[in-house]
Order: sequence, then structure tokens, then C-alpha cells
Amino acid sequence: MKLFSEMMAGQTLLPIIQADSVAQGVAIAGAMAEAGLKVVEVVLRSDASLKALTAIKQQYPELIVGAGTVLDTEILAQALDAKADYIVTPCVTPDLLAALASSGVPAIPGVANCADIALARDAGFREVKLFPASLAGGIPFLKAVSSVFRDISFCPTGGINADNCGDFLALPNVIAVGGTWVAKKDWVEAENWQAITDACRDAIG
Ligand code: 3PG
Repeated sequence: MKLFSEMMAGQTLLPIIQADSVAQGVAIAGAMAEAGLKVVEVVLRSDASLKALTAIKQQYPELIVGAGTVLDTEILAQALDAKADYIVTPCVTPDLLAALASSGVPAIPGVANCADIALARDAGFREVKLFPASLAGGIPFLKAVSSVFRDISFCPTGGINADNCGDFLALPNVIAVGGTWVAKKDWVEAENWQAITDACRDAIG
């Protein structure tokens, strides 16, 4: 099984797709692909999310499409059924970690403190999501844990934006940053796909 970082292949932005319909999801993914992104995350927060994930994979076979907001093993099973290429969770439980470890796809479990990191580490993970990054200690937290969890790398998500993403990415224990700021709901509602492409370009530029 590939590591998340191997799958990212140098992409430092993990852009989040929040889709209220299949068409919306496909259009957002298209705008992200237009910016040159290869890996996108569809968060499973609406009735349309799983169908949107499948449709994005059909429409853009070159994209690596993950499922996010995977809260438990039931949602994980649905995401794997929908052929999600990788998994992102906002939290950890022993059951979820065990299922992620045997899922056969790359995964970053979501941690918010040292106990969560230790749980994920015990389950074999060395790459995790920090969520919600800005509230869970942000940059000072990531610096503090770097000397203790020397083998752990992070994808901070939650409160990342155009102003602070560079500071997070400058940390040696950060692989990539994730977030919704590159596909704001207002832009999606206005079908302003160009704004999404521009924001993604800015973030990776
Ligand atoms: C997530 O699912 O990781 C968060 O919704 C991302 O947080 P953000 O909306 O602050 O980017």
C-alpha cells in the first residue's frame, strides 16, 4: 500500500470538494484539475457525495480522488465500495484505525492531540491529518510535537487559508495542507469555477 505522501507525489495542496450534487462535484473537480492538481478529496457530507466521487473518477480518470469525513467503519466501507483512491478521517477510534490499516488504500487518520497521534502510530500510521489544525494548536503544536513524534508527518486541515498555508508548509513535518478555502461555497453557488481554479493556482504557486 502506498503512503499518502507517495500518492501526493509532491502536491502540497489537498483541495476539498464539498458537493451538494453530482454536477457540482464534477464541476469543482474540473476547476481543480484545470489548475494542475492531481489529487482531490471529496468530503462525505451530503447525500450526493458518494455519487459525486464516482462521477468525478469517471469524468477525470487522471485524478486521484479520495473520500474525506470518514467518521466510522460503516462510512469507510461505503467509501471503499465507491472506489475512493484514499481515505481521510477527521478523528480516530481503535476500530476505525484497524479498518483503515487493512483497507488497502492510503489513509491519513485525523488527530487533534498527542493521545490521538500515539493511537494512530500504534496502528502503524506515520502520516496523519491534524484537525482542526488552527484550533488544535496550529503551527506551535506541530513544532512542539516534532521533537517527540520524530517519525510522524502531518497534513494540517481546518482553518488553513491563503494567508497561513505557506507558514504551515514551511514546517519540515508537514507534507501538505488541506482545506475548503480554494473552493468556497459562495463560488460554487455562483458557478464561479474560474475562482476555484485561480485559488488553487495561487495555493500551489
Ligand atoms: C475538513 O473536512 O477537513 C474541514 O472541513 C476543512 O476545514 P476548512 O473548511 O477550515 O478548510
